[in-house]
Amino acid sequence: MSEFAGMTVLITGGGSGIGLATARRLVEGGGEVVLAGRDAARLEAAARELDGGDRVLTVRADVSRVADLDGLTDEIGRRYGRLTGVFANAGVPHAGRVADVTEDDYETVVGANLKGTFFTVQKALPLMEDGGSVVLNGSWLAHRGAAMGSLYAASKAAVLSLAQTLAPDLAERGIRVNAITPGHVQTPMLDTVTMGSDQVREFFRSQVALGRIGDPAEIAETVIFLLSKRASYITGQEFIVDGGLVNSIPA
Ligand SMILES: NC(=O)c1ccc[n+]([C@@H]2O[C@H](COP(=O)([O-])OP(=O)(O)OC[C@H]3O[C@@H](n4cnc5c(N)ncnc54)[C@H](OP(=O)(O)O)[C@@H]3O)[C@@H](O)[C@H]2O)c1
Repeated sequence: MSEFAGMTVLITGGGSGIGLATARRLVEGGGEVVLAGRDAARLEAAARELDGGDRVLTVRADVSRVADLDGLTDEIGRRYGRLTGVFANAGVPHAGRVADVTEDDYETVVGANLKGTFFTVQKALPLMEDGGSVVLNGSWLAHRGAAMGSLYAASKAAVLSLAQTLAPDLAERGIRVNAITPGHVQTPMLDTVTMGSDQVREFFRSQVALGRIGDPAEIAETVIFLLSKRASYITGQEFIVDGGLVNSIPA
């Protein structure tokens, strides 16, 4: 119960998927979590499921809107007064040929994935304890040239770059910054991307050396490790958690 006692972690996109799986582990271990996202009903359902009482705070916030992030951090300040960690996890998918990408697509994807990640970290800094930990959520697509992936992949490549540059930026406060790079993970986002098609899902599965789609809890384990003091000498790194997708040719 006490493994994560004393930890207070902001998780953007905490109402579902990888974010919720991470929150589950933290709450089970006695930590406090703040779940942020755009959909209040989704956040409330997540909080009910976590059943962590006053160790779970939900705040409706669109990370692409800096004013929302100000409201989010104000609320965290009032409830907990501090953060020991941030998991900047919120993100949106996009698949489309460059010729079809609209300005709205660009604003939405870059707004959530890059701008949202950047300002989530910036706005959390006054609440962050020295020695805290920031984990950013990238994507395997930052490493692969996929025809439909230009917008999403570029936004996630930028997230990986942020982990490298924010690490020395925040090192004077002992704040570590790392990125995780998930492969194919069974979440609502994967269902969106596969459009419910078994054929597409099977194609994704076949790309993975371990021969299966990942479970969000398997990604959460790495996030938790990076958030914890066990990773006290790790900063500016990327952790690829993909079952052997980016660097493997399945047998
Ligand atoms: N699943 C995969 O295969 C995979 C692979 C590589 C990387 N990733 C990355 O993993 C992260 C988590 O995704 P997931 O797979 O767990 O899917 P998910 O369950 O759809 O989670 C995405 C979360 O982000 C939130 N979100 C999206 N836009 C937001 C915004 N503008 N402001 C605040 N919250 C926002 C969503 O909540 P609301 O809709 O309520 O706002 C949702 O809770 C994403 O960054 C994704 O790119 C996933």
